[in-house]
Amino acid sequence: MKSRLRPGTGRMSLLVTAGPTREKIDPVRFISNYSTGVFGYEIAREAKRRGHRVTLISGPACPEPPPGVKIVEVESALDMGWAVKKHIKKCDCLIMAAAISDWRAASPSKRKIKRGRKNKKLELVENPDILRSLGKMEKKILVGFALETERLADNAAEKLKKKNLDLVIANKIGGKTSPFGRNPTEILMLDRFGNKSILRNRTKRELARLILDKVSELKLS
Ligand code: CTP
Repeated sequence: MKSRLRPGTGRMSLLVTAGPTREKIDPVRFISNYSTGVFGYEIAREAKRRGHRVTLISGPACPEPPPGVKIVEVESALDMGWAVKKHIKKCDCLIMAAAISDWRAASPSKRKIKRGRKNKKLELVENPDILRSLGKMEKKILVGFALETERLADNAAEKLKKKNLDLVIANKIGGKTSPFGRNPTEILMLDRFGNKSILRNRTKRELARLILDKVSELKLS
C-alpha cells in the first residue's frame, strides 16, 4: 500500500502537465496530436487560485498562462519525462493532463527530407510511459487521464490499475464528440476505491474545480 500525505494539510504542491508533445521527424516536421492544453492550464489556474503551489509542465500550447504559476516548457515526450522526474520530488500530487505521443521517429533526420520517392516509410519507436514508471515508485497522489474511442469505463479502470493511479479522468472521443479545446466536455472520474462519477456537459473550468475537490478528498483518505 502506498503511503499518502499527512492528513489535515490543506495546501499542496501540485505538478500539472498539459498540452501535446511534438516528436521531430526532420527540422520542419513533427508527429503530434490535437491537444490544446486548455484542460491542464485550467487545472493549474484553479489550483493556484486555491492557494496551492503549482508547477506546470507544458508541451507546445498557447492558452493564457495562469498567473503566478511556474511554467516549464518542453517539446517532446522524452523532454516531458525528464521534466516530470526533475520536478516531482518536491510535489504531493501529479496531475498528468498532457497528451503525450506514444511514439517518436526512430531516427529523426538532421536535414529536411526531400520529395522524390513515392512511398516513404517512417520507422517509429515507443516512448516511455511516464505515469506508469512513476506509479511504481512515487508515494504521491497520481492522477491520470484517459482518452478513448470505446469501452470508456473499462479502459479507465484498466489504466487506473496498470499505472497505479489514485484517480483517472476519462473522456471519449469520436463521432461528434471532441474533448479538445474549450468545448463543453463529459468525463468519467474513477478513484482508487472504485467510486465512479459521470459529469456531463461541463466547462473545463468547472471540471478543474471538481477534479481538485476530489484530489483534496483523496489526500485526506
Ligand atoms: N501518459 C504518460 N506517458 C506516455 C503516454 C501517456 O504518462 N508515454 C499518460 C497521459 O498523460 C495520461 C495517461 O498516461 O494521463 C493515459 O494516456 P493515454 O494516451 O490515454 O493512454 P496510453 O497509456 O498512452 O494508452 P493507449 O494510448 O494505448 O490508450
